[in-house]
Amino acid sequence: MGLDLEPYGDDWWVSADVPASARPGRPLHAEHVLGIGGATQTMIGAAVRRPVDSALDLGTGSGVQALHLGTHARRVTATDVSRRALRFAATTAALNGQEWELLHGDLVAPVAGRRFDLVVSNPPFVVGPGTTTHVYRDSGRVGDAIGAELAAAAPGLLTEGGTMQYLANWVHVTGEDWGERVAGWFAGTGLDAWVIQREVADPMAYVNLWLTDVGEATDPQRMADWLDWFDAHKVEAIGFGIVSLRRGDRDDPVLRVEDLRQRVQPPMGDRIADWFDRQDWLHGRETDGLLTARYRAADGLQLRQEATMGTDGWGVDRQVLALPDGLRWTEEIDPLVLALVGGADGRLPLRDQLALLAVAHDVAVDELAEAAGPIVAHLVERGFIAPVQP
Ligand SMILES: C[S@@+](CC[C@H](N)C(=O)[O-])C[C@H]1O[C@@H](n2cnc3c(N)ncnc32)[C@H](O)[C@@H]1O
Repeated sequence: MGLDLEPYGDDWWVSADVPASARPGRPLHAEHVLGIGGATQTMIGAAVRRPVDSALDLGTGSGVQALHLGTHARRVTATDVSRRALRFAATTAALNGQEWELLHGDLVAPVAGRRFDLVVSNPPFVVGPGTTTHVYRDSGRVGDAIGAELAAAAPGLLTEGGTMQYLANWVHVTGEDWGERVAGWFAGTGLDAWVIQREVADPMAYVNLWLTDVGEATDPQRMADWLDWFDAHKVEAIGFGIVSLRRGDRDDPVLRVEDLRQRVQPPMGDRIADWFDRQDWLHGRETDGLLTARYRAADGLQLRQEATMGTDGWGVDRQVLALPDGLRWTEEIDPLVLALVGGADGRLPLRDQLALLAVAHDVAVDELAEAAGPIVAHLVERGFIAPVQP
C-alpha cells in the first residue's frame, strides 16, 4: 500500500499515507492518514505561534500540527479517533525527536476535564449527510454540526486567556444569513470569536472537490446522493473558514463573522494574535479613554483617491485608506477622518488633534469628539492606526 515519508520544513519528516493523486484508480483506505494538504497548511499558517505551556491538537493525523506546536508549547497533547492515525503521529514525533501525549478517542472525549493554553484542529470538517466513508474527511456529524460542536466544547477546553483555532465549513441555506448561522455557534460560550470566511463553493464544485480528494470523482451515485442531500436541505453554497476563539472571561465578548475572500494571505497567525491584542486594548475603553490616547498610522498605509476633472480642476469623488499587507483592509473615509489619520504620528493625544481639526474645519470640538469615538475604535480594530503605549 506504500507510505509517504515527506521531508518537511528545514529538517522535519512527516509520515502519512500516499495521497489519491499519486495512486490513480486505487481507492483510499477508510482510515487514510492525510499528508500535508491545503487545509493542513491553512491551519499551520493560521495558528497563533506564541509560547505556551500546554497545547492540544485535535484530530492529529500525521501529527504535523503537533510538530509545529512542539516549537512553542512546553507540552503537546494530540488526539485522534483513528488508532492508525495515532501510529503515524507517533512515527512523526519519533522521527523528529519530539515527545507528545497521544490519546485515542472521539473529539474532546479523551481530554475531558482538562484545559489547554492553545488548541488547534484541522478536523474532518466536510459537510454532508453525516455518513463516514473516510475518517480524515467525514466526522459522522450531519451537515456542519462539527463546527458548532467544537465551539460548544471550547469554553471547557481553554485556560484563562487561552486560544482555540480550527478550520470549519458551514452551509449557506436559502433564506438564511450564513453569518448569523455561524455566529449562533458562539452564543453563550463567553468567548471572543473571530470567524473568517476565506472561500465559498457551490454544491457541485464542493462535492467534486471532496470526491476527487478520495479518488472517487467518477462515482456518479455518490455525487448524486450528496447533491440530493444539499438540495433537500436547501444548501446553495458552502463556506470554508478559520475560527479563532479566545477565553477572555468578559461579560461582553467580541464576536465578528466576516467574509474576507480574496483577502486572506497566509500566514495569518500573527494577524490573528494582533487582532485579539487590539480587542484587548479596545475592551472597556469608552470614548474618553479613546480620546486621551495617542495613535500612529500603520506602516505603509496608503491613500487611494478617485477624482473627476471639472471646470475648477480635480474634484475628489472618493478617498480610501488601504493596508497593503495582511488582510489588505480598505476603508472609504471622509476628509476629516483623513486629516485625523494623516496627523496620527504618535505625538498628540487624539483630543488635542481633534481640537486642531475643529478649528481648521470650523466644527464644534464636542461634536467632533462624539463622532470620533466609534470611528477611531473601528480604525484601531482593523489596524489602520495603533495606539502608542506610554
Ligand atoms: C483533516 S484530517 C487532519 C490531519 C492533520 N491534523 C492535518 O492537519 O493534516 C482530520 C483528522 O481528524 C481525525 N478524526 C476524524 N474524526 C475524528 C473524531 N471524531 N475525533 C477525533 N479525531 C477525528 C482523522 O482521523 C484525521 O486524522
